[in-house]
Amino acid sequence: MIKYIGSKRRLVQAISALAAGCGATTAADLFTGTTRVAQELKRQGAFVTAVDTATYSEVLAQCYISTDAAAVDNAELADAVASLNSLGGRRGYFTEVFCERARYLRPENGARVDAIRDTIEERHRDSPLYPLLLTSLLEAADRVDSTTGLQMAYLKTWSPRSLQPLSLRVPDLLLGPGRALRADAAQAVKTMDPVDFAYLDPPYNQHRYFTNYHVWETLIRWDAPDHYGIACKRADAKGADNRSRFNSRRTMPGALAEVVAGLKATVVVVSCNDESWLGRDELVEMCACRGHVELLEFDSKRYVGAQIGIHDPSGRKVGKISHLRNVERLAVCGPRRAVLGALEACDRLSFDGRETAPSRSGGEEGLG
Ligand SMILES: C[S@@+](CC[C@H](N)C(=O)[O-])C[C@H]1O[C@@H](n2cnc3c(N)ncnc32)[C@H](O)[C@@H]1O
Repeated sequence: MIKYIGSKRRLVQAISALAAGCGATTAADLFTGTTRVAQELKRQGAFVTAVDTATYSEVLAQCYISTDAAAVDNAELADAVASLNSLGGRRGYFTEVFCERARYLRPENGARVDAIRDTIEERHRDSPLYPLLLTSLLEAADRVDSTTGLQMAYLKTWSPRSLQPLSLRVPDLLLGPGRALRADAAQAVKTMDPVDFAYLDPPYNQHRYFTNYHVWETLIRWDAPDHYGIACKRADAKGADNRSRFNSRRTMPGALAEVVAGLKATVVVVSCNDESWLGRDELVEMCACRGHVELLEFDSKRYVGAQIGIHDPSGRKVGKISHLRNVERLAVCGPRRAVLGALEACDRLSFDGRETAPSRSGGEEGLG
């Protein structure tokens, strides 16, 4: 699985138990990112709609959520991946910008990305394999990158994994149908069909996914944009079109409240953490419009960059790491009986020691 800040790798087990506990057969993951949560919901049999504004996230959702593994010609897919792996490097925009000016990948791997990405466009543009092959390339690049997880600053010396040759793998596809939607969550809720279970995991602060993951955005769009700064970010990051209301302290609470209130869903789960602009009480208050509210809190390890520390462009450590752990919150809201059913399934989970079991607020009376 790819490195992604805010990814819910550690909470996925609890979220899917909550969905199972309310018997969900339809679900929505409205800020789907890596699609990790959407994948788990699909794995347990729900028809999932995965929504995000990022182009790379849409491609991941087309691969893992809307593609039915039963409809894919596995031999054709394996042949396509093998053929792409056999291509030699061809220096182009990706190599020059991201591997010579910036240091995302080693230049020899960058040249292979250039050759493979051009070939996917030439040979597979109109094929159902297109999002599968793009996903395979994005994941392959992530395995050999030289970052701490964000595409904003690079390590002074190449990371050991970046010295490995880029190698594409066949993605692990899931059985069953689903839907991928590139859209603003606030717009999507207006037209989406009702679902049994919805999960909301918005950005919590000013750090924009569009700039943190700009290399993937360009790798998928393949539009060779003008760029700026040492990380060679896309010039269009400066425009209003690629800003999210969820990245501004002033607009985030209102935008999220709109989505929470507008969703046609029985049980809604909203993620937040104690570093968010939205405090615990505000979160509960926002969810109260849907009925009963319960809050689960998980003591968690912060993302890898926080463990490694803050560095300047020359690789020198600057500043202090303030803390290594945080509290991840899940507010579960909806009709009382459905919420308590969902919570019961989560209570039955055994946490395996890598993650602390949640503490729960709400109880019989709820918080809302
Ligand atoms: C905290 S991350 C979600 C991580 C995800 N749950 C996972 O496990 O990978 C927030 C996501 O919200 C997306 N996003 C930002 N603004 C959005 C908007 N207005 N509508 C939908 N998605 C948005 C970002 O692209 C990012 O992928």
